[in-house]
Amino acid sequence: MHESPTPFPGGPTTSSQQGSPGYGAPQGGPGWQQATMPPSSNGGHLLARHISKSYGAVRALQDVTVEIPPGQSVAIMGPSGSGKTTLLHCLAGILVPEFGTVELGGVVHSALSDRERSKLRARRFGFVFQDGQLLPELSSRENVALPLLIGGTPRKSALREADMWLARLGLTGMESRRPGELSGGQAQRVAIARALVHRPDVVFADEPTGALDQATGHEVMQLLTTTTQMAGSTLVLVSHDPQVAAWCQRLLEIRDAAIHDDRMISGGAL
Ligand SMILES: Nc1ncnc2c1ncn2[C@@H]1O[C@H](COP(=O)(O)OP(=O)(O)O)[C@@H](O)[C@H]1O
Ligand SMILES: [Mg+2]
Repeated sequence: MHESPTPFPGGPTTSSQQGSPGYGAPQGGPGWQQATMPPSSNGGHLLARHISKSYGAVRALQDVTVEIPPGQSVAIMGPSGSGKTTLLHCLAGILVPEFGTVELGGVVHSALSDRERSKLRARRFGFVFQDGQLLPELSSRENVALPLLIGGTPRKSALREADMWLARLGLTGMESRRPGELSGGQAQRVAIARALVHRPDVVFADEPTGALDQATGHEVMQLLTTTTQMAGSTLVLVSHDPQVAAWCQRLLEIRDAAIHDDRMISGGAL
């Protein structure tokens, strides 16, 4: 259905997000020095202007304008069918709106060719979907290394970098496991590592905890927001769950294909 899995990024947040995840993950360690560097480009400013998108007779987005500064974490909330996933897909260049434009760092990606847009997606964005969407035949390490390998990083350093990210996500010892040998929460942590390994400008996450129990979902959200923040990436998260959305700094509420409310919140767990 339309709950197609999609993923997303985070930004600087409040101290309330800094509790211990409880499995020795991303605080401290020399590895973070690299991760706290700004993303490879500083053009992570997202801007959608007056975008509309329909599926046949169904108007999924109607004249939506939204601007997301680099490093911010934004939760897109709203009832089922309100247009959340469509908005996320338009911001991420997975879909092109029929009207309006979408820019990243001043580049109108909605006007690029499919090929150029998918290159931009691979380089500048990371994704976390509801079910992880890991490649089942690859190990955790290979799954995480994929965005680097696609970007041309030599295999050895890509795998080394992947191991570092797995360690940050508390997954040391799981490097050789395939997705089928991981719990749902572990698989989502691998997906977060994969979304961040190439230090994207923006991480997109569509219902990333939708398939997890509440406690595991809480851990995954804590990791998603802290690691995205440490990587200096923006986070755009879709969720219909207020407890999940509360991890973000900003709440964008969609109703009937339009923005109903847009406000800053404190961020961190409820
Ligand atoms: N591929 C599609 N084909 C037809 N209708 C779609 C498609 N994707 C979404 N829709 C419709 O567009 C509206 C918005 O969908 P979506 O953006 O997936 O909402 P949400 O993520 O908030 O549940 C809904 O009415 C949905 O049924
Ligand atoms: Mg959706």
